[in-house]
Amino acid sequence: MHLIRDVQNLAILLGRKSDNVGFECHDLFKSGKELRVKDELEVIELSKGSGAKDLYVKKIRNGSVIDHISAGHALDVLKILGIDGGEGHIVSVAMNVSSKAASKKDIVKVENRELKPGEVDKIALIAPSATINIIRDYEVAEKTRVKLPESIRGIVRCANPACVSNAGEPVEPKFLVERQDPLRLRCFYCVRIMEKQDVLKQF
Ligand code: CTP
Ligand code: ZN
Repeated sequence: MHLIRDVQNLAILLGRKSDNVGFECHDLFKSGKELRVKDELEVIELSKGSGAKDLYVKKIRNGSVIDHISAGHALDVLKILGIDGGEGHIVSVAMNVSSKAASKKDIVKVENRELKPGEVDKIALIAPSATINIIRDYEVAEKTRVKLPESIRGIVRCANPACVSNAGEPVEPKFLVERQDPLRLRCFYCVRIMEKQDVLKQF
């Protein structure tokens, strides 16, 4: 795992090959320099004195970009996707970067892995404003805005052990979405309330 951080922005890289990834900072880029991430865990503080204003994450050739994640929720997205770096994909995470739509957003890029429809549905639970971009040969081949429906089935289990959906019966878990952000689900059967942390515990 590699870490680059400055006062306002945080970027994390997960992956085994790091020699072909790098973060370019505006002022460094202008001067023709590039920050290279070394192989071992490293924290590089871009101090106030560095003059860096923006942090850019490189474009990827192939894979998935989860964009417009509410600021501070990128790590929850990785958790819900079960991505911990062990798969060997290069994963870059930018947190609290400037965004046109919202003041700050997080971005997750997973190289050489296209998200499956079921994974897109899970992301909607944690990041209802996210956009999933599938990148092929540097182009955005598909763009999906995630959407949380009024009720969800099958993705999350009810936390109430006495719920009929946990009784070994053929009853598919079902929740009504009472609130999207922050998440609040109500079990259709036992009215147990589930919030984001209850959902994340299951992934
Ligand atoms: N991206 C990338 N690598 C590429 C192409 C795009 O990492 N080869 C990233 C961009 O940096 C951006 C996201 O994928 O974070 C979506 O790209 P694009 O649709 O080109 O950007 P916008 O038009 O700004 O997207 P939106 O309208 O969804 O905000
Ligand atoms: Zn229940």
